[in-house]
Amino acid sequence: MDHSQPGPGAQHPKDYRKQQLIEATIHCISTYGLSNTTISRVTQTADLSTGIANFYFSSKKQLLLETLQSLSAEYERVIGRAFSLTGTPRKILSNVIRARFDPQIFTAEKIAVWYAFTSESRARTEYMLICEDKDTAFMESLEGTVKVLTEKNARADLNPIAIARALEGLLNGYWEEALFQPDDFDSSAAIDLCESFIASVFPESKTNDGCGKASNTDRSPNPVDSATNTQNNAQSDLLAPWTYYSTEFLELEQNHLFKTHWLLAGHISDIPHPQNYLTFDAVGERALIIRNQDGKIRAFHNVCRHRGAKLVDSERGTCGRTLSCPFHGWTYCLDGELLSVPAAQTFENLDISQNGLVPLDLEIWMGFLFIRFGGTGDSVADSLEPIKELVTPYQLEKIEPIAGSRYQETRPYNWKIIHDIDNEGYHVPTGHPALQQLYGKTYEDSEMGGVLVAQGQINDNPGRIWSVRQYQKLLPQFDHLPEHNQRAWLYFNIFPSMVIGLYPESIEFYMTLPNTVDSTWYLGASYGVPDDRREVKVARYLSARINKLTEKEDASFMRWMQLGMNSSAFPKPKLSSKEENVRRFHKRIQSELPVAQLANEPKSGDVQNINHRMQTQPRD
Ligand code: FES
Ligand SMILES: [Fe+2]
Repeated sequence: MDHSQPGPGAQHPKDYRKQQLIEATIHCISTYGLSNTTISRVTQTADLSTGIANFYFSSKKQLLLETLQSLSAEYERVIGRAFSLTGTPRKILSNVIRARFDPQIFTAEKIAVWYAFTSESRARTEYMLICEDKDTAFMESLEGTVKVLTEKNARADLNPIAIARALEGLLNGYWEEALFQPDDFDSSAAIDLCESFIASVFPESKTNDGCGKASNTDRSPNPVDSATNTQNNAQSDLLAPWTYYSTEFLELEQNHLFKTHWLLAGHISDIPHPQNYLTFDAVGERALIIRNQDGKIRAFHNVCRHRGAKLVDSERGTCGRTLSCPFHGWTYCLDGELLSVPAAQTFENLDISQNGLVPLDLEIWMGFLFIRFGGTGDSVADSLEPIKELVTPYQLEKIEPIAGSRYQETRPYNWKIIHDIDNEGYHVPTGHPALQQLYGKTYEDSEMGGVLVAQGQINDNPGRIWSVRQYQKLLPQFDHLPEHNQRAWLYFNIFPSMVIGLYPESIEFYMTLPNTVDSTWYLGASYGVPDDRREVKVARYLSARINKLTEKEDASFMRWMQLGMNSSAFPKPKLSSKEENVRRFHKRIQSELPVAQLANEPKSGDVQNINHRMQTQPRD
């Protein structure tokens, strides 16, 4: 699915038409209901021909599904933004309350469409998954925020889950009210009432009060002075909790891990045609990956050379033959050269030939697109050489995106927590019943030349969980895979934060990038070698379902770990040999950022200096 928003200067008429059709579908569903929405009604409403609708959507079913996916992506963007803005938990709650009444998602038409799909979801699994995801993700983030607020305010008398549910009930009640009485609905009054509910539960907490991150001196039991010999600060090969909540350490991670290592942006098949592009913003940088007219792919900073405006605003799409900055209209060719400047004579000494877009390092490895904002380390090919032989049979150059699978979203955890959990299978037997039934007995973690590897062979015993049992039964043979890989699930964790999963029927990747100490930006997508067999489609659907289940289970563990770090009883980690890859992950971070070896948090303002000193003066 294309989640892109038409972007100024980059919007292609075709993207615009598709969006027009989706908007017309929203209007038709809200007016006539799902069953009476027809392609012909939609095209009449959009004032477009049926041929154009058929070009984008093979059937009414696809049109409806893409409409729901588009609605869901928009909702996630608005709500995700509210949860990820920095501020106290109280302030975040206010943001979220306002976001639920944001005119972008809170319109009579869109609410009616959500209710229409929700009612139909009992009969349609694909609707159910999207509608349930929307509600579950919202509740998880809301419960997490309320929990942090109760802990910061030392309100052990309160039950955060009950408060989160009460607030959700209020918000849902208002959505229903707006559905049935749109003309009388007053959003400001609704926001005020939700705010006063929260204020009555947390009278001690104002939206801008001191429930935010504790300062370094508040949180660390034993802050370390930069003048203190670091030997007086215990060192460990596991990361201490302070590295998960220190904003100074986060800054080091952003500058020295994420801006200097390769990052995985997607696959060549995400931009198969000339003028196709992908963008992402992360760790303060903006990337644009684009295919030019000759089919060559390049990467640039998505920053206009005039005054720094964002050149392309959509997450992906198709641009014209040139890129024109939406601010003052400087225009670039797809190779990055500056072509024209409006009123160029009004600039003194402007050398057009010297003002092309700033290129980024780009390396294509087995079809995957890696970019780098800075740094001069090994090439991707060299770093991944140790896993090349294992990966080669999967024909990654040939894979194509699975429709609707690409996502970019924010989640409320520190980025390392995600990989701490992903890097070990010790939790699989208790935490992931579906995975345990799928491959639990044979699961093992290992390391291959710096890449952390996990793998399991699908069990022959039929699983009790429906999706597992069906997947075991229906997964077909694949001619391109050797016997050993026919029923293998393989994962590669590539430093600092990329995961590639290889399953017989599909391939997935995701990457995490830190926004703040407790908010992480995720980018991910699934792909498959083109294969029209029905059983392949079913297997892809079932494995996605198993992974969705796993993701939900992990979301709880991540939230608990994130909150647990605030606890005075948070234990010094004890690792089983089945968690060895967590230790390897931590050691790798410590080798790049030695200050992370310290058990106690350095004093405010000292993290960078101590890190520098430890880098330049090896320990005695
Ligand atoms: S900032 Fe791009 S043209 Fe002015
Ligand atoms: Fe997990």
